[in-house]
Amino acid sequence: MKNINIGLFGFGCVGQGLYETLNNSRNFAGEISKICIKNADKKRKLPSQLFTTSKEEIINDEAIDIVVELIDDADAALSIVVAALKAGKSVVTANKKMVAENLEYLVELQQQTGKAVLYEGAVCGSIPIIRTLEEYFGHEPLNEIKGIFNGSTNYILTKIFEERLDYPKVLKEAQELGFAETDPTLDVQGFDPKFKLSILLTHAFGIHVPPSHITNLGIDRLKTADLEYARANGHTIKLVAQAKRIGEKVFGFVIPQFVQPDQTLANIQNEFNAVTINGEFCDEQLFIGKGAGSLPTGAAVLSDISALSYDYKYEYKKHYNLGKLPFSNQSPIQVYVSYNSPEQVDLSDFESIQEKYFSFDHCYIIGNICIGKLQKAEWRNNQNINIVLTPEGCQKGLGNLCVSDLKEEISELKKGQKIRERITI
Ligand code: HSE
Repeated sequence: MKNINIGLFGFGCVGQGLYETLNNSRNFAGEISKICIKNADKKRKLPSQLFTTSKEEIINDEAIDIVVELIDDADAALSIVVAALKAGKSVVTANKKMVAENLEYLVELQQQTGKAVLYEGAVCGSIPIIRTLEEYFGHEPLNEIKGIFNGSTNYILTKIFEERLDYPKVLKEAQELGFAETDPTLDVQGFDPKFKLSILLTHAFGIHVPPSHITNLGIDRLKTADLEYARANGHTIKLVAQAKRIGEKVFGFVIPQFVQPDQTLANIQNEFNAVTINGEFCDEQLFIGKGAGSLPTGAAVLSDISALSYDYKYEYKKHYNLGKLPFSNQSPIQVYVSYNSPEQVDLSDFESIQEKYFSFDHCYIIGNICIGKLQKAEWRNNQNINIVLTPEGCQKGLGNLCVSDLKEEISELKKGQKIRERITI
């Protein structure tokens, strides 16, 4: 095998993880010959001649075979990837936002240049899910792909549920451990797993769905009352990304979900991620692995570099070979919505309401709503509103009740009335 020269962009958590995994791999023939960084004054453990602040020094270096892009800024990452491909170099990137938002263009560019872009490290850290979808499931129609795609929020939720620690404290821990994004709202508001879901939709179902078309809700509005509700019902909460094929349509979203203890995802803890695949022939498969952190993500990047060394490329088999399945948001889901006062939620958006509860310190409804309605609803942006998918969240055919009747009933209740009544329909 030829000795591979790598030009690296970024030397943060994942860049350093790559450096370490590469140096400790016993059989990898290659080395990082240049690292492009933003801040030349920052103290670093490696010799200063290894670093540069000039992008061109890597892009124009003919001795460099592969560009590895591990920076934070999605726009700058795209310009590096495009320049590298046009300069005849294959690329490895772990920037999920950049890949998700530009996948169609990146596929085109790969065709035009004949060079490859690999991005296993962008989705679920060390779980080799993209190559599994491409290579193993390339010709099997899938029914569903679902899981925990974000390590930081899973770490936070584990600590909140297992150790009863406070949200701000564990968010800080997730940042210190290098799990969270530089802007942690991307994690806690569900954007990061949405980027990953968008990428997997291409490899699992052959469709490009821009992240802006996918609904995402996060865990940043969970209140003590919601946690108590979950505990009282024997549930934990997980931030779940899922895409499902129903008939000839695919729908998908990222929403926190109440999970029962006997469900697979309940036992995925800390920064671990999990992906379940339901295939038409294989039925159910489960993949578990560390979804965040310097070494696990560095290892995924190393694996992509190694794959490039034998000219591996994604073939986007489903994208090219399948009839295009439309992505749809017109499917009902069942959600728990907690709020402070009844007028905060527009009940006419719901198809039906199954349960309502109103007390001095906790109000909620459980109802069926179309994903598209939820995505567009103004009221969901209210900081006092928290939404969690019920354990049955995606099953259809739930009860029906005239929404307008309930609306009147709820508006008659005054906050502070301390009505501890539960109506189950
Ligand atoms: N912030 C991401 C996470 C890093 O917590 O999963 C890995 O993509």
